[in-house]
Amino acid sequence: MLLLPLLACPPTPEAKDPLEGLTLVKEDPSDNPLPGLSEVWTERFVAGDAHFESLFRESQGLGPAFIRGSCNSCHADDARGPGLVRKMVVLEGGEPAEDQSILPFGHTERPYVAGGATQPILPPTTEELLITQRQPPAVFGRGYLEAVDEAAILEEEAAQAAAGRVSGRVNRVCWDFEQPSDKFHSFQPGDCGLIGRFGLKARVASLDGFAADAYQGDMSITSDYRPLELPNPDGLTDDYYPGVDIDPEVVQLTADYMRLLAIPRRAENPGLELFMEVGCADCHSPSLPTRTDYPIEDLAGIEAPIFSDLLLHDMGSSDGLYDSAAAPSEWKTAPLIGLRFLKNYLHDGSANTVEDAIIAHALPGSEAQSAVEAFDALSASQREELLIFVNSL
Ligand code: HEC
Ligand code: HEC
Repeated sequence: MLLLPLLACPPTPEAKDPLEGLTLVKEDPSDNPLPGLSEVWTERFVAGDAHFESLFRESQGLGPAFIRGSCNSCHADDARGPGLVRKMVVLEGGEPAEDQSILPFGHTERPYVAGGATQPILPPTTEELLITQRQPPAVFGRGYLEAVDEAAILEEEAAQAAAGRVSGRVNRVCWDFEQPSDKFHSFQPGDCGLIGRFGLKARVASLDGFAADAYQGDMSITSDYRPLELPNPDGLTDDYYPGVDIDPEVVQLTADYMRLLAIPRRAENPGLELFMEVGCADCHSPSLPTRTDYPIEDLAGIEAPIFSDLLLHDMGSSDGLYDSAAAPSEWKTAPLIGLRFLKNYLHDGSANTVEDAIIAHALPGSEAQSAVEAFDALSASQREELLIFVNSL
C-alpha cells in the first residue's frame, strides 16, 4: 500500500497523526507467487496474471452470450466475487423434471450479449424453475491442489470408507477438450476415468482444462481446447473476432498463474487439534502429499496444506444438477485456503459467517452432521478457538 502525505502544510499541535488507528499492510496479502520461484516461472506468473485480469472486448471475441468479460470480475484479488454464476433447472412437483427442453441453451444463465448477438440466455419466466447461484471459489494455491498425488486421494477415499464417519468419493471425469493436457499431465481428448479436482463438484481434472472451460463458458472466449461458441438464442456460431479467439498459450499462461499463486500467509493460531477432534479434518484434510514429478519443483513431493480431501460429499443441499458422477447434493470439500479473504461462504454464498457455514453442514442427509454435533458440544471458549483458527486460514 502506497502512503501519500495527506496534508501540504505542517500539522498544527492539535492535529492527530493521520495514520492513527490504521493498520498498515506491509505486504500484499494475495496475488503473490510461490516464494523463491525461478526466473522462468516468475515470468509465466506475471504474464498469466495479466491475462487473468484482462477485460475482453468485442474486437477480441467477446460474445455471443456471456456472463462476465474477465476472470478477475468473478475472482477479484484471486478471491470470491463479485461476479457469480446462476443456474436453472426445470422442476416438476418439486423435483428436477425429466424434460428440460425448455432450456435449449443449457442450465447456465448468460445475461450479457456482444459480438452481434441480441438475445441473452435468461431463465424463462413462466415455468416452475429452481434458480440457484454458484459462488466462485478463490484461486489461491491451486497448484497445490493440482499437485496432490492421485494415490493419496484414493487412499483418503478408502480410509473414509473403512472408518465410516464420512464417505467421500472421487468424481470420475472425462477430458472433454480438443487439445491434450501434456505439460502437467498426460490427458488426451476423450480420456475418461480421470480424478476430477476443480469446480464446486470437482468436474475438471486440471487447471489448463478449467481455464479453457472458464474462458468459453463464463466469458465466451474460444480456444483450441474449446473451439466452438456455445449454443445461443441468436444461433450465432461466431462473433466479431473470426474463428478461435485466443491462443492455447494464453490458456496455459492463465493456468500457470493459478498454479504459481501462493497460499496467503497464515497466522499461527491454536485450534488445529479441536478441528481434528470435532471431525472437520475428516473431510478438510489439513494436508495431502503431492506428486514427486509435478513440474513446478517447489510443489513436488511436499505436504500440501489445502484443508480438503478433494472428494465429493453429500451435504444435503441440492441444486438439482449433476456434474459427471456428482449428484445434485454432492459437493467437493471446499479447500480452506485464504478463507479470511472471503466475504461469504458455501457454494451459494448462503452463509455470512464461518459459524453459519458450519451450522449449514447439518442439513438433513449431510455427511457432516456428527461433526456439527461435536462442534455444538464444545464449550463456548473452545468454539471460539476453533472459529478463530478457521477464520485465520
Ligand atoms: C462469471 C463469473 C466467473 C468468471 C468470469 C470466471 N469464473 Fe472461475 N469460477 C466461477 C464459479 C461460479 C466457479 C465454480 C464453478 C462450478 O464449479 O460450477 C469457478 C471456479 C473456478 C475454478 C475452480 C477452482 C477450484 O478450486 O475448484 C478455477 C480454477 C477458475 N474458476 C478459474 C477461472 C479462470 C482462469 C477464469 C478466466 C478465464 C475464470 N475462472 C472466470 C466464476 C467465474
Ligand atoms: C462430510 C465432510 C465435511 C465435514 C465433516 C466438514 N466439512 Fe466443511 N465443507 C464440506 C464441503 C463438501 C463443503 C462445501 C459445501 C458447499 O460449498 O456448499 C464445505 C465447506 C466448508 C466451509 C465454507 C468454505 C467456503 O469456501 O465457502 C467452511 C468454513 C467449512 N466447511 C468448515 C468446516 C468446519 C469448521 C468443520 C468442522 C466443524 C467442517 N467444515 C466439517 C465438507 C465437510
